[in-house]
Amino acid sequence: MGTRTWPLVRLVLLVAAGAARRARAQSCFSGGSVSLRLDVTTNETGHPHVHARLDQPAESASWALDLDLGTSACRAGQQPRKVLTLALVGTPLKAPVPPEYELLPALGYFRQPPRALDWASARDACWQEGAALAVPQSQREAEQLTRRFAFNASDATRVDLGWLGASDAAKEGEFVTVGGVPLSKMGYTTWNPGQPAGKANENCLAFWKSNALLEDLPCAWKLPYICKVPL
Ligand SMILES: *[C@@H]1O[C@H](CO)[C@@H](O)[C@H](O)[C@H]1NC(C)=O
Ligand SMILES: *[C@@H]1O[C@H](CO)[C@@H](O)[C@H](O)[C@H]1NC(C)=O
Repeated sequence: MGTRTWPLVRLVLLVAAGAARRARAQSCFSGGSVSLRLDVTTNETGHPHVHARLDQPAESASWALDLDLGTSACRAGQQPRKVLTLALVGTPLKAPVPPEYELLPALGYFRQPPRALDWASARDACWQEGAALAVPQSQREAEQLTRRFAFNASDATRVDLGWLGASDAAKEGEFVTVGGVPLSKMGYTTWNPGQPAGKANENCLAFWKSNALLEDLPCAWKLPYICKVPL
């Protein structure tokens, strides 16, 4: 995914005990097109009030607010102060899904590029378009992928197989997805009978178009592959 990182807007308010009545302070912070305005007031009965107003474009990040109220212990001998720490952390919205991707409802957006590649090149090609080499998360997803995609890239030598995004190159026998998740936690681990059987010679995960069953294969084989953008 394209990663747009929003600045962490961190404010530290010092609310002094016994602040002057009706004291009023204002601060404005701005990070890109996001601005934050802060009003600190003390009302007639001496209660400090803090109001924050976050202004952002409608099509922007969503925000999480983290508040912490404590007492500072900066220096010995200093009057203790109440410290309100307010952290606003933005979650970036996803980059738009590339136009060639097809939505399979409740599963994600998918595309089979019209070529066959070795596993590492297929993985990198998906990443380059803001996607990841697909890993089915259910029987239904595996079947939908095999049904939907042709696995017939013109230069494929083995047209009934397609790469999936997991490998056990790091530790023999432990397949891990391109996103770093153990395959066993992904929701679909139905191997072709007797598989995986390749030991150190076959470290990359593929599946059969005819039955959606998993197979470990030599990573240098050139196979069709499916890229996925999650929902
Ligand atoms: C000041 O703020 C406190 C806390 O919200 C509230 O209980 C109190 O009634 C307020 N005083 C006035 C005069 O509004
Ligand atoms: C795959 O097969 C389908 C159906 O025959 C065809 O329309 C499509 O062009 C083929 N794709 C490639 C990359 O050969």
